[in-house]
Amino acid sequence: MKTSIPFVRGVRLRRDSVPRSAVYPFSLAAVQQVERLRLERGITFFAGENGTGKSTVLEAIAILLGFNPEGGSTDLRFETVARSSSSLHEHLELLTLDGSADDGFFVRTEGLFNLATEVDRQDEEMEEIAREAKRWSGVTMTGYRPLSNRYGGGRSLHQQSHGEAMLALLSNRLGGGGVYLLDEPETALSPLRQMALLSVMHRLARSGSQVIIATHSPILLAYPGARIYRFDEDGIDETEYEETDAYRVTRDFLDHRERSLRTLLAADEVGEDDR
Ligand SMILES: Nc1ncnc2c1ncn2[C@@H]1O[C@H](COP(=O)(O)OP(=O)(O)OP(=O)(O)O)[C@@H](O)[C@H]1O
Ligand SMILES: [Mg+2]
Repeated sequence: MKTSIPFVRGVRLRRDSVPRSAVYPFSLAAVQQVERLRLERGITFFAGENGTGKSTVLEAIAILLGFNPEGGSTDLRFETVARSSSSLHEHLELLTLDGSADDGFFVRTEGLFNLATEVDRQDEEMEEIAREAKRWSGVTMTGYRPLSNRYGGGRSLHQQSHGEAMLALLSNRLGGGGVYLLDEPETALSPLRQMALLSVMHRLARSGSQVIIATHSPILLAYPGARIYRFDEDGIDETEYEETDAYRVTRDFLDHRERSLRTLLAADEVGEDDR
């Protein structure tokens, strides 16, 4: 049975239910200003420095949509001991756009290994059922499409390198017309594969998908016409590509590599002399 997944217009913080003491996640300026997010179909980015709350907010939206918080979907759910998500989703109300999707997925790099294990486990379980059925009835089960086809392009995600598995997952599993949340999908990807991801994003955008991506990648952020939200210590603001740190810092480093390196490494040399 296909689940209907709403397109997201934004979230509202139920301020009356928020604890008075400023504990995580309510201590984050981005959480206090989370209502500033105006989400549409197409591509939206969450950009900004480490620790500003991008994953916290993205994960809360994923949970509100019914996705597996470790990455996955409404139908691919699994849980491992090591994860801890914030309670933010309990204090947020999801605001939706008209229409809904019948596909959706939450991709997070740190969940890729567990997701690959779950895909293999389900395929092995199905193979076992098929073997048993054949043994008892002599009938060969047909029509089952292994999940590794749908997720890994025909190969187990575990038999691919980190970056290969990530791009295979994004290219194969994200079918289009859905709601897709991606948390730093670039982490494992070479610059060339990040460019390949731009064309996956374009296919998704043209099929009417809603794609929300937390990223530090100046390559992904270059997607034309995307809305970019900058998360920082003051909260959340919409910004332009050229204003993002990812673009400015990378560009400045590459344009002035020698100078940047001299400055960065000089501090260490002083430290060594002083020892
Ligand atoms: N379970 C937790 N308990 C307490 N604090 C947490 C928890 N998870 C995250 N934090 C803190 O909340 C802040 C925001 O974390 P979050 O992971 O949302 O940042 P981020 O913007 O996604 O950063 P990055 O770019 O490094 O992925 C960080 O300072 C982090 O240390
Ligand atoms: Mg993060």
